[in-house]
Amino acid sequence: MDRLRNPFVPGAGIQPPELAGRDALLADTSIDMDRILAGRPAKGRMLIGLRGVGKTVLLNRLNLMAQEKGFQTVRVEAPDGSALPALLAPELRRLVHALDVKRRAGRNLKRGANVLANFAKAFKVNLGPFGLSVDLAPGEADTGDIEQDLPRLLAAVAQAAADRDTAIALFVDEVQYLSAKELAAIIVACHETAQLGLPLLFVGAGLPQTVSLSGRAKSYAERLFDYPAIGRLEDADAEAALLKPARAEGVDFEPGAVAAVLSATQNYPYFLQEWGFHVWNAAPASPVTLAMVESAAPGVVAHLDGNFFRVRFDQLTPLEQKYLRAMAELGPGPHPTGRIAQTLGVGTPAVATVRQRLIKKGMVWSQRHGETAFTVPLFDAFMRRQMPALVPHVPQRRSH
Ligand SMILES: Nc1ncnc2c1ncn2[C@@H]1O[C@H](COP(=O)(O)OP(=O)(O)OP(=O)(O)O)[C@@H](O)[C@H]1O
Ligand SMILES: [Mg+2]
Repeated sequence: MDRLRNPFVPGAGIQPPELAGRDALLADTSIDMDRILAGRPAKGRMLIGLRGVGKTVLLNRLNLMAQEKGFQTVRVEAPDGSALPALLAPELRRLVHALDVKRRAGRNLKRGANVLANFAKAFKVNLGPFGLSVDLAPGEADTGDIEQDLPRLLAAVAQAAADRDTAIALFVDEVQYLSAKELAAIIVACHETAQLGLPLLFVGAGLPQTVSLSGRAKSYAERLFDYPAIGRLEDADAEAALLKPARAEGVDFEPGAVAAVLSATQNYPYFLQEWGFHVWNAAPASPVTLAMVESAAPGVVAHLDGNFFRVRFDQLTPLEQKYLRAMAELGPGPHPTGRIAQTLGVGTPAVATVRQRLIKKGMVWSQRHGETAFTVPLFDAFMRRQMPALVPHVPQRRSH
């Protein structure tokens, strides 16, 4: 069908034509935003889910919602290994300037700017000239210890926002890549601003291990945030994700075709977009039939294998690949960690480090002690296609 009018958008963080199945979360967060604006407390949120379930899309939608409600917002993505201060400081600088719209810097706004300048200096972030005059205020957020300084900084900026009758919303994507110290700093900042009654809303998004990482960083994190699980869609929502955008373009799917796409994608949002996109392009005319989906299927699978799955596979060492292949032998998971080792023909300790590296890379996670699961949906089937044979692991003897 006409590629020009293809409504599906497989990708990362791209708003889908129909954001299906997330109404309750949007409504809940909307209420929390209104509470914060009304000077009432509200818990922060950590959106938790596997790769491609739509965490970034939700984070962006909530960011937009916050802006529409009059929040001043900051959105950052924690990249692997990069420093949080260097990401946050320029964003907060922009925010402080935005608070200065009345061109009459109040005492708290000036203080916010001063504390930010201190923070930037302590963390060696070059912010360039400020639009409003700043004096360094020694002793404020300048210890160089982010766990002490970030709470001070965010409290000062939130105070400035409160003075302007607005509030701050902080959005952080890929939370699992923050260092333990950075994560602790954010948690302490949320805790302290809440205690001071300051208007700050935190929304994070991350892979499932984010929950335990937060708990380990600060034990009270579990009470500070809600951790809504962002997962695959209910059947009716998956159907809507496929049918609504198609129908808006005058294209229909026969029930058998819908069922086939839902089954292939297991209702995972990213896969729904990919399948919708490729089936649309391959189908000669509306309505899309089961036969059309079946004839497009090998191409879609090859495309996913060659791209989405493949880039992740290529970032792994041969041993890491082998480990995932052994997991795949056991099915989608989660699997007892001991059984994975057994499948590789070794004891658990022999592959403990490789498992740890895979957790760090965000490829696997452990919901319960002694269990390991994929963070990428449908990765098990890909691994079996990519590495048809399961090869046992022979640990190398250390030479003395
Ligand atoms: N609720 C939804 N309904 C339909 N499509 C969706 C939905 N949520 C996300 N998508 C689509 O799924 C794809 C992945 O979304 P997104 O990048 O937000 O996932 P993610 O959870 O952030 O993934 P990752 O963990 O890899 O960053 C995008 O193409 C997006 O348009
Ligand atoms: Mg994302």
